[in-house]
Amino acid sequence: MKSLLHTAALALVLQAPGIAMAASPLEGKVSSAQEPVMEGVLVSAKLKGSNMTTTVVSDDNGHYAFPDGRLKPGQYDITIRAANYELPPTTAQIAAGKPTTLDIALKKAVDPSTQLSNAEWMESVPGTEKQRQYMEDCVDCHTLERVFKSTHTSAEFMEVFDKMATFMPGSVPGHPQTVNGAAFRRSGTAAAKKSQADFLASVNLSGDREDFRYQFKRLPRPKGRATRVVITEWDLPREESHPHDVMLDKAGNAWYADFSSQYIGMLDPKTGKVTDYKLPEPKPGAPTGALDLEADKDGNFWVSMQHQTGLVKFDTRTKKITHYPVPDEWQTLRTQQAFVAPEYAHIDGKVWTSNQDQRTILRLDIKTGKYEDFGKYIDANGEQLGTYGIPADKNNNLYLLEFRQLVKGDASVGGSSIGFIDGKTKEYTVYPTPTPEARPRRGRVDSENRLWFAEYRGNAIGMFDPKTKEIKEWKLPTKWSGPYDVMMDKTGAAWTASMMTDQVDRLDPKTGTWVEYLLPRQSNIRRVWVDDTQARPPLWIGSVHGGSIIRLEPLD
Ligand code: HEC
Repeated sequence: MKSLLHTAALALVLQAPGIAMAASPLEGKVSSAQEPVMEGVLVSAKLKGSNMTTTVVSDDNGHYAFPDGRLKPGQYDITIRAANYELPPTTAQIAAGKPTTLDIALKKAVDPSTQLSNAEWMESVPGTEKQRQYMEDCVDCHTLERVFKSTHTSAEFMEVFDKMATFMPGSVPGHPQTVNGAAFRRSGTAAAKKSQADFLASVNLSGDREDFRYQFKRLPRPKGRATRVVITEWDLPREESHPHDVMLDKAGNAWYADFSSQYIGMLDPKTGKVTDYKLPEPKPGAPTGALDLEADKDGNFWVSMQHQTGLVKFDTRTKKITHYPVPDEWQTLRTQQAFVAPEYAHIDGKVWTSNQDQRTILRLDIKTGKYEDFGKYIDANGEQLGTYGIPADKNNNLYLLEFRQLVKGDASVGGSSIGFIDGKTKEYTVYPTPTPEARPRRGRVDSENRLWFAEYRGNAIGMFDPKTKEIKEWKLPTKWSGPYDVMMDKTGAAWTASMMTDQVDRLDPKTGTWVEYLLPRQSNIRRVWVDDTQARPPLWIGSVHGGSIIRLEPLD
């Protein structure tokens, strides 16, 4: 029997366009011996043999319900995510036109260290702010679980740091990539490394420690609005899929650029079918993998080729690939085109990119295929600016987001500014972020030409208004979120996602209120993309370490 309250909750959800809740194919209550009514438990259903998992979240009555039309008949594996709880293997049989009720009883997790997000590790380990900040850059390639569950001594950690510094971007434990094993980044001075190694060896499982000597601090489960969401996740079939940037084409297909191998791929969300397209590999022996995926006005995709160098234009209609190589005489072993900005190339026929090796800005003339070298820029502290994301504005001017950590003696200092290059006059201006060492990472301009960007260390969303020349910041509610990118949707909500918390954050900048949605499993999200063709725009993201494409549909 459905309670009155439960019917009222369904009626509310019913109003969401495109998501019919009239007759849920699968619904029930979530409880445990400790908590008879459990709000904020993620319940996932995966049809046996399919690559698609649908997830809903239990409400304040402990009730979950999958929307009508989202689970076709068949046998489903049911899994959950709730900190400190687990569900024994469970299946559900869905028959056509016949709603199924499945009440779910959770058990306390035997091992409380399972399902811990990177941010929960950061918050749990006893250490100073600086000691923990050092770990921010370890999550690019793998989880922190790998670090804290290791048995390394301090001396061994010194070697681990040097080894990690040889791994190039696009490396993951299944696919380590180096350039002849040489150091790629500085791993710090001996003194700095020693103090960090001592710290890590004091909080991992080294020596005779069989268990952690500290309590795990878990993030609270989703509540209220954060439970009103449907999350669909498609596993990519190719092993070693690392979808970094995801966006839709004009026909509604989801495209991704692979961070670790030379592919871009297309998911048809209607069928779940994935088609991969091989990118050129012009620099044999150099690390593989692409990063930035952007569209020009005509809907063609542009991809930054990282260490394979240059830019690629992909015609989504004809599937023709055009490679724009960087001149040989500019190339070193480490030439790296990490980003590309073609969105406003129709203004002047130019596409921006960067060379991470030298931290220089390049601009491609599409007609001639020639690159112009804009050289290096200076940040708000008078140092060379370490650019990461390079979003263009509507006049095809360029923003430079200063993400870099600068090693200065024993200290490492995070980027504190955004730069701006006028595409016509080449005039350059630098704007300091209100939060020092905010480490601006990626972003893009909105319909009003304001720049929205993520502050990775600032743990905030930033907005630069070119009219007032001021930067505003909104801090994320959860510490160590490590936001990577921001995109504003047509309703005025700003979206970001986390490399650390497995959460997606939605901000109403007018009221400063946030909704934090939890994802069904460990994910590590980079680029965010909203589908503004829908009345209530869903968010599309790639789970870089999970090898999947995710759509998150808010219900209110
Ligand atoms: C650019 C990618 C990258 C970054 C950044 C990175 N790692 Fe790794 N890490 C790897 C790869 C690839 C492996 C697996 C290959 C191997 O172990 O040689 C690995 C494995 C490990 C392991 C397990 C293997 C071992 O030797 O014990 C530990 C511990 C580790 N990393 C610690 C760290 C720490 C601490 C940081 C941050 C200071 C870090 N990693 C940053 C790529 C990276």
